[in-house]
Amino acid sequence: VNPCCHYPCQNSGMCVRYAAGRFECDCTGTGFYGDNCTPSPDTVHYLLTHFHWLWELINTSFLRDVLMRVVLTVRSNFIPSPPTFNSKYGYLSWESYSNLSYYTRLLPPVPEDCPTPMGTKGKAVLPDPAVLVERFLIRKTFRPDPQGANLMFAFFAQHFTHQFFKTHHRMGPGFTRALSHGVDAGHIYGDNLERQLQLRLHQDGKLKYQLVKGEMFPPTTKQVPVTMSYPDSIPDHQRLALGQEVFGLLPGLALYSTLWLREHNRACDILRAEHPSWDDEQLFQTARLIIIVRPDYSNRISLEFNHLYHWHPLMPDSFLVDGQDVDYPHFLFNTSLLLHFGVEKLVDAFSRQEAGQIGGGWNVHRRLQKVVELVIKESRDLRVQPFNEYRKKFELKPYKSFYEFTDDQEMARQLEELYGDIDALEFYPGLLLERTRHNAIFGESMVEMGAPFSLKGLLGNPICSPVYWKPSTFGGAAGFDLVNSATLERLVCLNSRWCPYVSFHVPRNERDRRRREPTTEL
Ligand code: HEM
Repeated sequence: VNPCCHYPCQNSGMCVRYAAGRFECDCTGTGFYGDNCTPSPDTVHYLLTHFHWLWELINTSFLRDVLMRVVLTVRSNFIPSPPTFNSKYGYLSWESYSNLSYYTRLLPPVPEDCPTPMGTKGKAVLPDPAVLVERFLIRKTFRPDPQGANLMFAFFAQHFTHQFFKTHHRMGPGFTRALSHGVDAGHIYGDNLERQLQLRLHQDGKLKYQLVKGEMFPPTTKQVPVTMSYPDSIPDHQRLALGQEVFGLLPGLALYSTLWLREHNRACDILRAEHPSWDDEQLFQTARLIIIVRPDYSNRISLEFNHLYHWHPLMPDSFLVDGQDVDYPHFLFNTSLLLHFGVEKLVDAFSRQEAGQIGGGWNVHRRLQKVVELVIKESRDLRVQPFNEYRKKFELKPYKSFYEFTDDQEMARQLEELYGDIDALEFYPGLLLERTRHNAIFGESMVEMGAPFSLKGLLGNPICSPVYWKPSTFGGAAGFDLVNSATLERLVCLNSRWCPYVSFHVPRNERDRRRREPTTEL
């Protein structure tokens, strides 16, 4: 047996195989020692979990900011830089470093020659993905997120992350089309130069648009013939041409595309007023930097991050827009909802409708069954390591049993029967089925694994470096002001006729609930 199938190296030590079942753990740089990179008593954890009085004091003092910075840095250090493995290479290689077509991998694939699909633990055959999805993931009745997230949040998360999650299915599930691996606003400007040039107006730095009832919307594919995926049934005048090929799928995505389009063109107007001498190119490039900066992000995107972000339980049973109940067949690919209702009413509707709780199981709408089945299938093709190995990677205690993992006894019993061993539980089912934190949208692992991926990017973006982060990069004080004053509310309300209720939370009080009349505020 390949000894690395036991995952013998702890604390991110690297397992290297030699002849005759011999292996070595390379513990270099892990801070751990010995044959398996195991710890001396974990002082950091001890400190963190004891001395409550000391933490009280720190929490209420200026020290908090300093410590927060340390915590954020430590967290983002879970994500290696430069990137390491990918779906083909379970060891370091130049190919894996330099070939940007791959998603990187935080943990190497399970070796090919292991006794079981997950290494050495669990059954010889993994449970049928369709059975897993049907038994534990499909929604029975809608369970709202107890933290009050709404559809405006759900579509923001989807819109934002789909600039760097763009699996290149033709090449295989381990590959991406988003070669810049981060926040480059490729979902607004296209992921290649040719597409960008087609989307641009080539005047005043602006993007092409169409006017509907006097308001600015993305152009149609007749006007801008870029590749988009629409079913044949969608008529020409409803085929919006967007930066991202699949954003015609949901009015929520087209809505955000419209807002960013308006914001880009608005930034161009502001810049042009300040710099009459600038040509189209400089106006465009500077406006693009302004757009990118707001939600900044950059690093090598990993497959695990992509799988983790399949937050489909957020989606409701149907969509409530302006008093109408729109079902899935009438919502998907229906860009006319955006053109008909306009930005204001859609924002208001999506901000008021609660999104589903992501964790805890049984909350994926039947319509999205295939999508979640597919993540599970792909993770097997790509030999993604067990959930517990990722728990360890992020310095969380591996679960000892399914009964510790979930409070639902029946779920635990069935999972045990299907997987045979908690150490064989898979990554994505683990994230979605783990007991949620009290009154929270998901469980411990989603937070503790998701946050480092995000933070790594926030701290690693060149635009945050002192070389870039100064007013001149954004065309002077006016541009810098746009960047520093950015909020969701400003994005919406400075690009619409009246200011609807706009938030990532459903209304909390009477004042929020009432706000929904065309007003001239702002
Ligand atoms: C991928 C449908 C909402 C996150 C996909 C795929 C489909 C799909 C068909 C492609 C599956 C594949 O071939 O790999 C939908 C529909 C939605 C929805 C119909 C709403 C009704 C969401 C939301 C999120 C999300 C709200 C997250 C906030 C993702 C991610 C991928 C994905 C991360 C992988 C993208 C890639 O690798 O290219 N979705 N989705 N989806 N979805 Fe969704």
